[in-house]
Amino acid sequence: MYLSREEEGIYQGERGETLRRMMEILVALGDIYGAEKLVPVRSVQIAGVSYKNIGEAGLEWISDLEGQVVVPSILNPAGMDLCRWQEMGIQEEFAQKQQQTIEAYRRLGVTIDCTCTPYQIYQGPSSLASPGDHLAWSESSAVSYANSVIGARTNREGGPSALAAALVGKTALYGYHLDENRLPTHLVEVEADLHGSDYGALGFLVGRTVKDGVPFFRLKGQRTVPDELKALGAAMAASGSVALYYVENVTPEPPGPWQPMETIRLGRKEIDEIYALYPAGGANAVALGCPHCSSEELEKIAGLLQGQKVQKELWVCTARKIAEAHPQLVAIIEESGACVFCDTCMVVSPATERFSRMMTSSGKALAYLPGLAGVGAGLGSLEECIDVALGRRQ
Ligand code: F3S
Repeated sequence: MYLSREEEGIYQGERGETLRRMMEILVALGDIYGAEKLVPVRSVQIAGVSYKNIGEAGLEWISDLEGQVVVPSILNPAGMDLCRWQEMGIQEEFAQKQQQTIEAYRRLGVTIDCTCTPYQIYQGPSSLASPGDHLAWSESSAVSYANSVIGARTNREGGPSALAAALVGKTALYGYHLDENRLPTHLVEVEADLHGSDYGALGFLVGRTVKDGVPFFRLKGQRTVPDELKALGAAMAASGSVALYYVENVTPEPPGPWQPMETIRLGRKEIDEIYALYPAGGANAVALGCPHCSSEELEKIAGLLQGQKVQKELWVCTARKIAEAHPQLVAIIEESGACVFCDTCMVVSPATERFSRMMTSSGKALAYLPGLAGVGAGLGSLEECIDVALGRRQ
């Protein structure tokens, strides 16, 4: 891989041991994937934050690093709400380790926003991603949204490679950074009117089929809103490993002419089969906010809970900045007995392991709760999830 004189100097250790190690990671990835060179990144989103996932070895690795990030860098969700961890049932020892992890990132200059939806909290002039920008983001749903809905370019970075990109300010130019890897592989024609959680169910289905392909959706005439695109991409990234997709007349266009390897036709029947396969039955808690709730989603949840009392634990996960921007909505939700937790989620926190089955409206949580949290999962619309929490349905 070509390195400029400055990059070569970093690689040789002229700017210290941490940067040398970081450059080594970037060059190793570049060599493996055949990158020609490094490219500057606009922003970084770093995975490897929940102490549940990184453990002591990960904490030691991060704590060992020196220096400062050179591009805007934020974090993936942590293993707990950084302020209300006791209410979540998190043990003191875990909380201490999680706080140490956060402090290690803070020391490196990383902004302590722990969210999988950076595009919801940084918009307009403070945006972390615009069309055509090269990024180094980690969380799979954020990667999918950046590539597909924003039209930026990022691979799905691991924690170390994202941190390396943050400290060096560059990433290796391969994969989804290149036009040739951004052409659709599958055409997906959907003959059904889709609403809300249907997008998660559709994504769950398509991800399993196309795996790491690039699906191009032709939907039946409806207007798809950003939260639905967020849910679609998140589910495909979890049930498969889709990092880029297109929706005809909605997302940015593919970068050139393309021919599908395969055409997939789906309708209401196939989507309803997913709901039927994963019913609510036996759920002892409800989890919303995977990916983290937007302002609009918080508003909908508050509208459904206003004046009601939940009978089962209901977690609403969001970014701290979204919750802080809407104290009245948070108050309405919490008056019902539900909890709005920030900085974390139902999958990366060890606190959900006490539940045997959770009801969710998210295709991604449906895919990850059983495997990563050991919790059974049922899928339903937002309204059905709220009904389960309120005890109106089993
Ligand atoms: Fe975000 Fe956690 Fe879901 S990181 S996408 S809320 S699994």
